Amino acid sequence: MSNKIIYHHLHAEYGHDVLRSWQAEGNISKNQLVYPLFIAETPTAKEEITAMPNQFRWGVDRLEEALVPLVKKGLRSVLLFGVPTGKKDSQASFADAPDTPVIKGLQVLRKRFPDLLLITDICLCAYTNHGHCALLHENGLINNKASIQRLADIATAYAQAGAHVVAPSDMMDSRVGAIKMALLKHDLERTAIMSYSAKFASSFYGPFREAAQSAPSFGDRKAYQLPPSARKLALTAVDRDISEGANFVMVKPAGPYMDIIRDVKNRIHVPLACYQVSGEYAMLHHAARAGAIDLKTAVIECIIGLRRAGADIFITYYTPELLDWLKKYTE
Ligand code: PBG
Ligand code: ZN
Repeated sequence: MSNKIIYHHLHAEYGHDVLRSWQAEGNISKNQLVYPLFIAETPTAKEEITAMPNQFRWGVDRLEEALVPLVKKGLRSVLLFGVPTGKKDSQASFADAPDTPVIKGLQVLRKRFPDLLLITDICLCAYTNHGHCALLHENGLINNKASIQRLADIATAYAQAGAHVVAPSDMMDSRVGAIKMALLKHDLERTAIMSYSAKFASSFYGPFREAAQSAPSFGDRKAYQLPPSARKLALTAVDRDISEGANFVMVKPAGPYMDIIRDVKNRIHVPLACYQVSGEYAMLHHAARAGAIDLKTAVIECIIGLRRAGADIFITYYTPELLDWLKKYTE
């Protein structure tokens, strides 16, 4: 063999848009987008969320107005959060009351949009008077056993009201198993579980806590959400949740944790969701407003990055825009 240098003409592989598309790994379809939706307690409400420009808390009577234009554009799936104003107590009682916004929302959406996949967040923080994701002992420590029982009751109520998927975001130990057992006990074996498995204690949840009015009144969530540097603990949590019956797992936030997305993808065989959270949404929005980046190309680049990292499902507040942009992105 000669020692001639072999030149690789990479430009020849992406000069034409078809050739660029041949280099793409993993396309993104509208079915893979999930739009988070906040349901206000007042049925006629349309409340602006200051920290999340262009996002609103919608009353049950206005869900149709909120969703018709999106369904027309190809929306297939929503993730529901209830936002009670008062009615918070130590037991998160309002979370599964018959007139709680999520249950009323599920009933309306099932009827009005029968093809829409309905996912409900399962947590206590919007319903407890202290704003933590758990029930607490009198000394303020987490009562894990009581919390997972309560979460299982709430998941059962949401499944009975029409949720296709329940998505626990609380991070209590063994909650996936407790929810799975409760679903089976109530003949709800068709309800899927999407676990927020690798959910990190993140500064990027700030805007959401305004949206859902769920900030803790004391302390923080570091005792139950993962430390941002904890790569192996994240994989342990994913393994645990799958062994307890999770049908889908999630990495959250998305962008700052792309390596975790790839690690999880290489390890498991269930579809993997990522949650581009409120702070990531706001950061892109404000950077674009300030002229630093072009919103459309930046958001698409982020989603392509998450796809490349291994995500199959994208929970993002940019879903309305992406439904317009997607067909053109594929290169
Ligand atoms: C509630 C919950 C949070 C998010 C989803 N479910 C907030 C938190 O854990 O503090 C964050 C979503 C976002 O920031 O967009 N447990
Ligand atoms: Zn919570």
